[in-house]
Amino acid sequence: MAGRLSLAVDNGHVVLPDGAIVVIEPREDSDLSPLDSAETVISTRFATVAARFQGAGWTVNQEVTPAGAVVVLPRARDAQKACLRRARSLTDGPIIVDGDKTDGVDAILKECRKRAEVSDAWSKAHGKVFTITGGRFDDWPELEPTEGSDGWWRAPGVFSGDGVDKASAFLADALPKDLKGRVVDLGAGWGYLTTALLDRPAVTQVDMVENDALALDAAQRNITDARAGPHWADALNWVPETPVDHVVTNPPFHVGRATDPKLGQGFIRAAAAMLKPRGQLWLVANRHLPYEETLKDAFRTLELHAETSSFKIFHASSPNRRKG
Ligand SMILES: C[S@@+](CC[C@H](N)C(=O)[O-])C[C@H]1O[C@@H](n2cnc3c(N)ncnc32)[C@H](O)[C@@H]1O
Repeated sequence: MAGRLSLAVDNGHVVLPDGAIVVIEPREDSDLSPLDSAETVISTRFATVAARFQGAGWTVNQEVTPAGAVVVLPRARDAQKACLRRARSLTDGPIIVDGDKTDGVDAILKECRKRAEVSDAWSKAHGKVFTITGGRFDDWPELEPTEGSDGWWRAPGVFSGDGVDKASAFLADALPKDLKGRVVDLGAGWGYLTTALLDRPAVTQVDMVENDALALDAAQRNITDARAGPHWADALNWVPETPVDHVVTNPPFHVGRATDPKLGQGFIRAAAAMLKPRGQLWLVANRHLPYEETLKDAFRTLELHAETSSFKIFHASSPNRRKG
């Protein structure tokens, strides 16, 4: 199905500039068919999005001085502003914004009108497309990590961008103090759980696997311990060079705005594939999420390690090996 940007171009509501175009933060399923892939650079923080566009022959995350930009509006307000600032820092040409109503496109449109010339917005499919000409955005947040007043580095749009997540704090406290060996922090975010792992002296290595390059960048500023290493990758298909002793995770359970346990279930299967025959998974989740069947299917042993009225910590060990 044609996307909103595509329809806006077809119907003459948006005119793409001649020359190179940078597309900032497209989604995996963004329809970029009106753009010429030979003249377009995709700019993304997400490994999954990079892989999807690279696989389809697009150029990803390369430096460019474009004639114009397309910004696919992210969800978080600070990330929206940071993307617009980035777009204006790359080009003096038009910035075409494509955003969903549920992500607050109306509010950002209003803010843009105060600082730039903005076209009439074209409404379609519960969202809007509009074009910004000129304007200054250099007082808006940058698309990079900054240090918070609590001493942690974070970046616009990262998970738990304004504090420590309660589920992660619960897991960090509940992990055995004598945990040892090589550990994978699956979906490591800005590194909170990795820090807790590195507090355990018998932990020899922590692989921080994270989809979001900005979160990983923040994690590297939060963690200077040489035992930790970053991997910008999709947890669902990242494989360590040798199997590991433990996987620790607070898996994501949203795809877009909707709750979707499939991603967390995928994390469980991926964790099982990373572990040694007696390897162990430590997973925290909101109580209502349906992970138990997947855990039972992927591991020989499963126990409820700890719980609160909101969260459960599962401890699963000895992954099942399937042939073929
Ligand atoms: C619930 S957060 C936990 C973050 C961090 N461990 C913490 O405790 O603060 C889940 C993390 O998984 C990351 N993530 C989502 N999908 C991913 C994927 N396919 N591969 C790797 N990381 C992913 C998100 O960016 C997010 O940082």
